[in-house]
Amino acid sequence: MSKKAKIILDESEHELPVVTGTEGEKAIDIRQLRNRTGYVTLDAGYMNTGSTTSDITYLDGEQGVLRYRGIPIEELAEKSTFVETSYLLIYGKLPTADELERFSSLLTYHSMIHEGMRHFFDGYPSRGHPMALLAAMICSLSAYYPDSLDPNLNTDTHITRLLSKIRTIAAFGYKKSIGQPIMYPRNDLSYCANFLYMMFAVPAEPYDPDPDVVQALNTLLILHADHEQNCSTSTVRMVGSSNANLYASISAGICALWGPLHGGANQAVIEMLQDIEDSGGDPRKFMNEVKDKASGRRLMGFGHRVYKSYDPRAKVLKSMADKLLAKLGVDDPLLDIAKNLESIALEDDYFVERNLYPNVDFYSGILYKAIGIPTDMFTVMFSLGRLPGWIAQWKEMMEDPSRKIGRPRQVYTGENARRYVPLDQRA
Ligand code: CMC
Repeated sequence: MSKKAKIILDESEHELPVVTGTEGEKAIDIRQLRNRTGYVTLDAGYMNTGSTTSDITYLDGEQGVLRYRGIPIEELAEKSTFVETSYLLIYGKLPTADELERFSSLLTYHSMIHEGMRHFFDGYPSRGHPMALLAAMICSLSAYYPDSLDPNLNTDTHITRLLSKIRTIAAFGYKKSIGQPIMYPRNDLSYCANFLYMMFAVPAEPYDPDPDVVQALNTLLILHADHEQNCSTSTVRMVGSSNANLYASISAGICALWGPLHGGANQAVIEMLQDIEDSGGDPRKFMNEVKDKASGRRLMGFGHRVYKSYDPRAKVLKSMADKLLAKLGVDDPLLDIAKNLESIALEDDYFVERNLYPNVDFYSGILYKAIGIPTDMFTVMFSLGRLPGWIAQWKEMMEDPSRKIGRPRQVYTGENARRYVPLDQRA
């Protein structure tokens, strides 16, 4: 007999179906609740609301488990590439050699952006935040590819176009911001090597991306590639649920990611570490401020809505930071400050009681800094990494025949009905 949940309201009992996921996750299906009882559920911040079922990513925050399509991220970080992991997320299986070859060729084929779009970079203020530019440019792609306005048409082409062009847009934006000529993509380079080339090569000099840096970038992007129904992914699904096109939906996700409580935390972490360094490098003093709620400070890169143990992504990044910085000969005092903050936090009652551990953003900024990525581009890097996840989630939603436009309810707490008062009679 299938399990049911019972709810008693106004002395009537109602049965609600229970849904169980493949990893034993349990949910009460309340879709008929309002029709049958007149009640809605209230859950600010969606702390306890499943907005969808999904086959893409499994996350167990208590155990620190994260898997894409069933495969642990630790294994993907060690053995896969970002392009292969993107295919896995979007199409649900690891590609065969032929499929991977075709997917990679399409990414190479679509790497240029329309020459008309280059003027946008010219007009954009050089000190403007690159996330504003990225969101605007990604949304603008829909104007250059008007067939995307029918989200059921030619989806695979738009998917590869978007995955490929985002790195060109990110790199062109950077070159313009520092007054260097843009570097067009090179077809002989892999996805990550091509990005590094467009970022760091200059016309007058030869440039060969360091294979260790290419590998580190692959790992960083893989670790960011999906994270089930978070703020930006839910935004992509919400915008897409109105049948808005793929580019517009992703652009909305980029805006949601920008905030310092979400993807913007990687920039905030480096700024925080730099602040500590500039004011004498005393992590204990800073930690006391964080614990004093009146200070309004948070230990950025710590804590997570879902992880109540060590974020498995942060574990991989921490050991990668040690290795990459040593290989590049970078001696960054911020890494020592970060490790110091972490060891204080792991033994401090404030953090232990609240299950606050390093999240993905705690060490990623140190790695991006070592690679040469400027601080205000860290969240752009997060966007590059998260893109295949957003696309996979958008595609899964669009292919769901039972899909509904996202439209939550509310409980109104304002004035009851009252009359309009003319201006000359108002107190
Ligand atoms: N530093 C100090 N205290 C914290 C922190 C922190 N980083 N995070 C949570 N707390 C405290 C918070 O003050 C609260 O204490 P109390 O119960 O006494 O009021 C308690 O822990 C629970 O916090 P919350 O804000 O209710 O938890 P949440 O699930 O709503 O927020 C979070 C999760 C990620 C927004 C929060 O932990 C935070 O602001 N962290 C810093 C920003 C950050 O690193 N964000 C990146 C998240 S990972 C990347 C991503 O996937 O977006």
